Amino acid sequence: MSPFEQSQRVLPCGKERKNVGLRKPGSGRSVKSRPNHDEHKYSDQAQIQHAVIEGLQTVLADSYALMAQTHLAHWNVEGPNFFQLHTAFQKQYEELFGAIDEIAERLRALDVLAIGGLKTLAKGSRIEELAVETTPAKDFVAHLVESNEILLGNAHALRRPLVPQMT
Ligand SMILES: [Fe+2]
Repeated sequence: MSPFEQSQRVLPCGKERKNVGLRKPGSGRSVKSRPNHDEHKYSDQAQIQHAVIEGLQTVLADSYALMAQTHLAHWNVEGPNFFQLHTAFQKQYEELFGAIDEIAERLRALDVLAIGGLKTLAKGSRIEELAVETTPAKDFVAHLVESNEILLGNAHALRRPLVPQMT
């Protein structure tokens, strides 16, 4: 079960949800319980919504993992370019923090719970964590470039269900 699916099973009060089907925004009812007048169209719409929600949860997890790695680089970078890199990393993790909040709030607007907690977010992302050790500045930069590319790839993939002709 994905972190997204797990997050949809438990209510904020800690009780288990009885119906974990996707909800249409604002309807308050499960998509699965709605009358189905146009089965094919309806099925496509529900699948697209599910794909978008799962994609947003992945981008949320990636963004949090990237923010944590950027913060680590901000703290531990050393060398002659320390000040420029320290400052640039801070700007990046602050921007990521704002973006993360927007992503989570978009999920809530879709009437689903946003995943959270460090363990859950780590499980939901493929971004690797650097060991806490002395690391050359160029290796911090290379790691963050690679991590940004993973995040961008997943963000780009999020458009696929909405634009089927995309490859
Ligand atoms: Fe700082």
